This record gives sequence, C-alpha cells and structure tokens, in this order.
Amino acid sequence: MINILILAAGKGTRMQSERPKVLHTLAGKPLLQHVLDTAATLTSTLPTVIVGHGAEAVKATLAENSANFVTQEQQLGTGHAVAQALPYVDDEAPVLILCGDVPLIQATTLQSLMKLVSDTQMGLLTINLENPDGYGRILRDQNNRVVSIVEQKDATQEQCSITEINTGIMAIKGEHLKRWIPKLSNDNAQQEYYLTDIIALAQEDNIAVASESATTLWEVQGVNNRQQQAELERYYQHYLAEQLMARGVTLYDPARIDCRGELTVGSDVVIDINCVFEGAVSLGSGVVIGPNCTIKDATIGDNTQIHANSVIDSSIVDANCNIGPFARLRPGTQLAQGVKVGNFVETKKAIVGLGSKINHLSYIGDALIGEDVNIGAGTITCNYDGVNKFTTTIKDHVFVGSNSALVAPVVINEGATIGAGSTINTDVDNDALALARVRQRQVKGWQRPQKKK
Ligand code: UD1
Ligand code: MG
Repeated sequence: MINILILAAGKGTRMQSERPKVLHTLAGKPLLQHVLDTAATLTSTLPTVIVGHGAEAVKATLAENSANFVTQEQQLGTGHAVAQALPYVDDEAPVLILCGDVPLIQATTLQSLMKLVSDTQMGLLTINLENPDGYGRILRDQNNRVVSIVEQKDATQEQCSITEINTGIMAIKGEHLKRWIPKLSNDNAQQEYYLTDIIALAQEDNIAVASESATTLWEVQGVNNRQQQAELERYYQHYLAEQLMARGVTLYDPARIDCRGELTVGSDVVIDINCVFEGAVSLGSGVVIGPNCTIKDATIGDNTQIHANSVIDSSIVDANCNIGPFARLRPGTQLAQGVKVGNFVETKKAIVGLGSKINHLSYIGDALIGEDVNIGAGTITCNYDGVNKFTTTIKDHVFVGSNSALVAPVVINEGATIGAGSTINTDVDNDALALARVRQRQVKGWQRPQKKK
C-alpha cells in the first residue's frame, strides 16, 4: 500500500484568476486530475488531496470517488498542508507527496522514487536547472549526500548559485513523516511551515536522503502562471503528436494538432493541420481529416473522409462516409456506411441509413432517414414548435426536392418524391409525388417600374 498526498490548497495568485489554480487545464483536463490519474496507476488506495482555496469547486470538478479530501483552512505553508493529512497516513506505508500543479509527473519516475523508501531512507526528486530561480536549492555535503533544502528567499548568494533544485515531490515512510511534521517551525523569511525542512530533520534522525533525478524538465514543471501553462500545453501536445506518429498517423504538421482527451486511431490515418480532438474520439483505419476540423466524443469508421472546417460532436459515423467541407454533426447524429453530408449541413439526433445523401445547405434534426435517400439542397426538418420537438421519418429511397420544409411530426413513406419548394405537413404515401407549393402564374408583358430620369 502507498499513501499518496497531493498538495492543492494554494491560491495560485500568479494565474490572475477567480478559479483555483489546480482546476486550470492542460489538454482540456484539470491539472489536479492529471495528477490523480497518474496516482491511480500506482495504487488502488485513494489519494488524499489537501484543498483550501476554492475547496468546494475543486471537489465538485474532479471525477467522483477519485480522492479523499482534507481542508487546509489557512495556507500556512507546504509543511502545514501535509500536517492536515497526517491522520490519514499509515505508519508503515510509504507516503508519496505530489503537487496538484505539477500535472505531467510520470508514473515510472514515481516508481523509481518509491523504491528509495525504507525504514532508514527517504527519497527526494530533484533536477538540475539552467535557471533555478524561485526554487528550493538542494544542499549536499562533501560526500555528495543531501543534507537540507534551502528556499530561495532564505538562501545566501552562494546557495542561490546551486542549480540542483527541489521538485517538491518526495517519498517517506509514514511514521517518519508523522514524527517530523509536528517539529516544523515557521521561523523563516516567508513565516511558513516548510515541508522542505524535514530533510534537515531526517539528518538528525540518521535517515538517509536518497535523491532521484527527474528524467525530463517538463514532468516536474509546475504551472504557476499563464505563460507556464501555455508552455507546458505546447510541450504536451507535441508529445501526444509524436505518439500518434509513432502509431502510424500522418500529421501534416505535428505542431498544429490539439488532443484534449483520448484519441484512438486505426492504421494509415491522415490528419491535416489545425484539427482539435476532444473527449473520446476513435478514428478507423484510412480515415482522412481535412484542415480545421473539431471532433469531440465521436467514432469515425474506416476510410471515411472528413473535409475541411467540419465540426462533429457526440456522433457516430460509419465507414466510407463523406463529410463536409463545412458540415456540422451535432449530438446524436448516426450515419450508416457510405453516407454523404455536404457543405453547410447541420444534423442533430439524425439517424441516416446506408448511402443516403444530404449534400448542401440543410438542417436535419430529430430525423430518421432510411437507405438510399436523397435530401435536396436547402431542406429543413421543422422539428420544433417553440415548446416541443417532433420527429421526421423518411423511409428508404425517398427523394426530397430542394428547398423543402418537412413539418414534423411527419412520415414520408418508401420511394416517395417531394417536389422542390414544398412545405410538407401531412404524411406522404409510398411511391407518391407530393407537391405543396403555390402554382405558378404568369402576367404577360409585365411592365417593370422605370427609374425617373
Ligand atoms: C515549493 C518548495 C520548493 C520547491 C517548489 C517546487 C517548500 C517550502 N518549497 O516552493 O522547495 O522548489 O515547491 O515547485 O515546500 N500548498 C498548499 N498549502 C500551503 C502552501 C502550498 O497546499 O499552505 C501547495 C500549493 O497549492 C502547491 C504546492 O503546495 O501545489 C507548492 O506550493 P508553492 O507555494 O507553489 O511552493 P513554492 O514556493 O513554489
Ligand atoms: Mg510553486
């Protein structure tokens, strides 16, 4: 068993935000949720999150049952934060301390850190930085053993020149932590209870401090301001793009794709520039996506093509479909194989059968459409009376002429034809032609008004 503590009570003043810092997002997911997801890969024991600033918002936003929460009413320092969680710490368990604003910490690094923990040794994650400004510095003795951490605000000029810094992440046996935390004082430049002072207490207790080095800078990079958030976002997106390419995806520009969720891909997928993927998106083999598409919570079948500037949300698209350019599939759209949805077509709760076509300028909402149906340009399903929504049912092999309004609830039966420009408000029989438009009239020799000279 491991006890994981996640520090998340701070305000994050430098974000200049009403929102608690740990709820700001990276790749569409709260910073703290990234840490919780990584923690979940290490142990089935729920982590303890120390919340304070915006505690209620933090609890409400996170995945249910993903953590136990303790509240630090006043933020008196990182040591004080850990003190709030001590009642939840087991004496015998190794305790891993993480920061809620360091989202990309890697499970493998934490596993290596945990291996350093024993009855007689604790583990500390450090890294060397070209610019260590702002961080706590690691002090070592002549034998290169870690003896203490000095915060920058308390450091001498000489200590400030040390480039090895404290990442804030450490692992200690529970009973040691319980012994040391109550001994911390706030007699320092910031008048805070520093967690980092436990390193010196370990010395006094003859507990060795073994250090582990983070493998990359970005995994220990905190988010303290918008600049760091943007920097880390780009770094992470680049990493995700590399992973996609390693799985065989063609990215026309790996710097111009954003994944904010789980993107799964078949073989030989091609993605043009400026596409955004949100939530759970699955792309089948041979899927080609044009530039500037946004796809959220959707499944796209094999060899389907999505052309430029299309937006797909909570929809299922089968194989060999042709979508866009400029198509919008709203939630509840389900397209069978070989369906075409062309430019300036909006669909919502529309179930469309094999090979049917809605090629231009249409709104198809709350509709059940059969196979081999052709919906002409400018067709509207009038699904809403201002209060209620109604369904339009269009059976197999129907042909709907251009600029038709289908006033739901209405059924167009198999093989029927709707003449262009019709407003259809009663059901249409099998194989019938329905025309509902004003008969054309002609005024011979019509004199147009003349402009006065
Ligand atoms: C801390 C470390 C510093 C390290 C740096 C790494 C201390 C004293 N210093 O400094 O050595 O280099 O992190 O980023 O530990 N928090 C609380 N309650 C509090 C104060 C902080 O929960 O009362 C949380 C914050 O929300 C944050 C984390 O603890 O998630 C770190 O706090 P922060 O104020 O950023 O510490 P630093 O001064 O950056
Ligand atoms: Mg910090």
